[in-house]
This record gives sequence, structure tokens and C-alpha cells, in this order.
Amino acid sequence: MFKKITFVIFLIIVGIGARYLYAAFKNNKSPTSVTTTQTQSQLSTNTSFNSKQYSTTDPGSIWVIVNKQTPLPLTYEPRDLLVPAVPLRLGAAEMQMKIRSITAVDLTQLFTDSNAAGLQLQFGSGYRSAAYQKVLYDGYVSSMGKSEADRSSARPGHSEHQTGLALDFTRIDGKCHLDTCFADTEEGKWLAQNAYKYGFILRYSVDKEAITGYMFEPWHYRYVGKELAAQMHTTGIKTLEEFFNIGAAPDYN
Ligand code: DAL
Ligand code: ZN
Repeated sequence: MFKKITFVIFLIIVGIGARYLYAAFKNNKSPTSVTTTQTQSQLSTNTSFNSKQYSTTDPGSIWVIVNKQTPLPLTYEPRDLLVPAVPLRLGAAEMQMKIRSITAVDLTQLFTDSNAAGLQLQFGSGYRSAAYQKVLYDGYVSSMGKSEADRSSARPGHSEHQTGLALDFTRIDGKCHLDTCFADTEEGKWLAQNAYKYGFILRYSVDKEAITGYMFEPWHYRYVGKELAAQMHTTGIKTLEEFFNIGAAPDYN
């Protein structure tokens, strides 16, 4: 009788062990992680993301942070500028119709998919040299005064456009060009929902002027690559300053 009970207990232990090992093998994880239940979004945010993967200070890095506190050298010019094969607002010879080649595959796919969705997005303005940024900034200062100009236009050396990683989207018909009403167009809404899938983030979000130093710009997107864009989307962190915890940049020194 005692032998029989021992044998049954032995069988139960072997059975539990076998099921445990099978589950571990099937999930290709260590046995300790088999019982962990995580949603897909948790898995994509907390496991492999490395926030030190790229520099945030090297002008050529796709994660470089340019704001009122952290300028680029005035002479910085990216080496890999090209004119993307997408609808352009200006002639292809214009400097502003260029963007860094590292963005091109994702940007082209974004235009292809938005077009398939029936939208009429256009590439409004990409790369700008520090010298051209000065022309634009000085124009805003003349027309609206310095303090208002500083809310919407970067001083030379402080514009993300100089990185060649930022662009202003617009519509082919020009409706709401560089206007907050762009946020209410189908194009603006589609970008707000989908741009992260192509590695772009809305850089000057609504209600973030105290952090970024700029008013809401629903047309200005910045390429950071799909991995960081997805991480910011999932975590809900809207600015690079907050994501990398480098402090707010509401104004110049
Ligand atoms: N409008 C943005 C802030 C720029 O001038 O770069
Ligand atoms: Zn812009």
C-alpha cells in the first residue's frame, strides 16, 4: 500500500515537471518567465529599448536634440541630403526640398500609405541652413516683433530644420499651410495618428510650449527612427526633452 502511494506521488511530480518544462520550451523563455503575463505594448516598451543607443548631442545623430538651449554649430550641414521622391511644394533645386537620406525610405512609405488612404500630403519644407534660418527669423521679427517671433521661429543654429531630419508637411492645395488649422485637416489627423509608424514624431505638441519653447506646430515632424518614435508613442511622452530628461528649453540663455 505504502509503495503504491509513493508511486502515485512520483507520477504526479513527474507530470507537473514535464508540463512545466514543455511550457518553458514552447515559449522559448527561462522557466521563471513562463508564468509572467505581459501585454504586447508592455513587451514592446520595457524589454529591449536602449535609451543610450544613439547620441542626443552629436549633430549627425538621429536622436540629436536641438532647442533654445542646445544649438547646432552654425556651420553644420548634413552630408547625405537628397530630394525625396514625394510631392514637393517647391522646385527640386530648392535647398528646402532636401532631407537626410537616412529618412528617405520611411518618408517615402509614409507618403505612399497616406496617398493610398486618399490624402493629399505634400513635402512643405525640409533642410534649412543656418544662414537661411536667419533670413526667415529676421522676417518674422520684422513682421510680428521679437517675442512673438521666438514662439514660432528658431534663431539661426537653433532650428531642427538644420539637422536635415525635420520637415513641415502641408497639403497639395495649400489649405492650412503653417496654420494650426492643419491639425483639423484629414492630413493633419492622419499624421498625428500614424507618423510614429514611419519613425517621425510631432515635435511641437499642443500645450508643450513651456518645455519645447514653441507653440503647437501640427505640421512640423522630426525623424527619430521607428524605435524611438514607437517608444514615445507607447509611453505617451510627447517631447524629446522629457523623454531624455534633459530639462525644459522654454527660452534662450
Ligand atoms: N518653426 C520651428 C520652431 C523652426 O523654426 O525650426
Ligand atoms: Zn518646421
